[in-house]
Amino acid sequence: MSTAPADAIAFARPWFDEAEAEAAAAAVRSGWVVGGPQLEAFEAEFARICGVRHAIGMSSWTTGAFLVLHCLGIGPGDEVVVPSLTFIATANVAVHVGARPIFADVANDTTWNVDPGDAAARITERTRALLPVDQLGLPCDIDAFRALADTHGLTLIDDAACALGSRNRGRPVGSLAPISVFSLHARKVVTTGEGGVVTTDDDALAERLRRLRNQGMSASAFERRDAGAAQAPSFPEVGFNFRMTDVQAAIGRVQLGKLDTIVERRRAIAERYLAYLANHPVLAAPRVPEGMETNWQSFQIAVRDDAPVGRDAVVEGLAARGVPARIGVMAAHREAPYRDRAPLLPATERAADRALQLPMHPGITESQSTRVVEALDAVTRPLVSAGG
Ligand SMILES: Cc1ncc(COP(=O)(O)O)c(C=O)c1O
Repeated sequence: MSTAPADAIAFARPWFDEAEAEAAAAAVRSGWVVGGPQLEAFEAEFARICGVRHAIGMSSWTTGAFLVLHCLGIGPGDEVVVPSLTFIATANVAVHVGARPIFADVANDTTWNVDPGDAAARITERTRALLPVDQLGLPCDIDAFRALADTHGLTLIDDAACALGSRNRGRPVGSLAPISVFSLHARKVVTTGEGGVVTTDDDALAERLRRLRNQGMSASAFERRDAGAAQAPSFPEVGFNFRMTDVQAAIGRVQLGKLDTIVERRRAIAERYLAYLANHPVLAAPRVPEGMETNWQSFQIAVRDDAPVGRDAVVEGLAARGVPARIGVMAAHREAPYRDRAPLLPATERAADRALQLPMHPGITESQSTRVVEALDAVTRPLVSAGG
């Protein structure tokens, strides 16, 4: 049966309306399209939501995390422990500063979060930082990583790219590690198209990140607007252009105002999926440990080990029924840049081979989520009868 395009299910989609378009237009009309008041206000709102002193807007997660590693002086000869089961950017930033990403395995369950015990086993005298990921929005066991970092004298950086609005025992992600880095890419719960944010309580680090994102300039254009024309900025060290624009920040402010609604709507869709998946013979549901609240940035499931069907066949079966599923999180260590030194990561490989993601965004209607569940059932039910 073909689906009318008007009611086609999108796999992911930003939760925009006229308010974002108006905010972007207002920033353009104001003339302050970069380094202006919108960025300052966005950063203050983001910091408040995360319960930290500083939020520093960047052009992406990648430039933000790179700049953090650069500020920490991490470089050639150093190692950074990262999960492999993540978007490859997590490993790439270590390479960008000349360091080595050292891959740790994930827990052998459907949290798909990096296992602190395995990460501990990867620490050597060259390790400088731990960069665990909040997988698809689900907070990782940051307290275990904090303890590891303290024991070994390492810096802990939370890859919170996907996790704005998630909580760990009531505490917002962004405040749980000394440094956290978020992405505002279009797939994230709150988006500015591209963009990133670093959060921290470290005043000196925040001040340096703000300078270095702006070519090392001592004061931004907005800060210098009332200074005399002859007031020249200074450039105490070599910087970069990693600025977030005011047009992005204006969109971001509207998005931050919707964060609670966005997360609530995602949670309602997740609950429908979870209700269907309970005790499913072919599919395993995502596990959310006690005390964790995820923002459901993505909804990942797995085809059970003993299922009489592979993951790709389930994805294709859903596509044939008008449901756009995708394969799950990648394993970075299997890609060309890292393949030659790939360690044994059995849980990561199993997840990368068996996980898939269902449509998840706040615009999914009740009838659409019903269609997703019905399609899952149509694809898997015959297998159960055949298998049994
Ligand atoms: C876990 C994780 N880390 C890092 C990134 C990179 O973010 P950005 O595209 O903003 O650089 C992403 C983006 O998908 C991600 O999911």
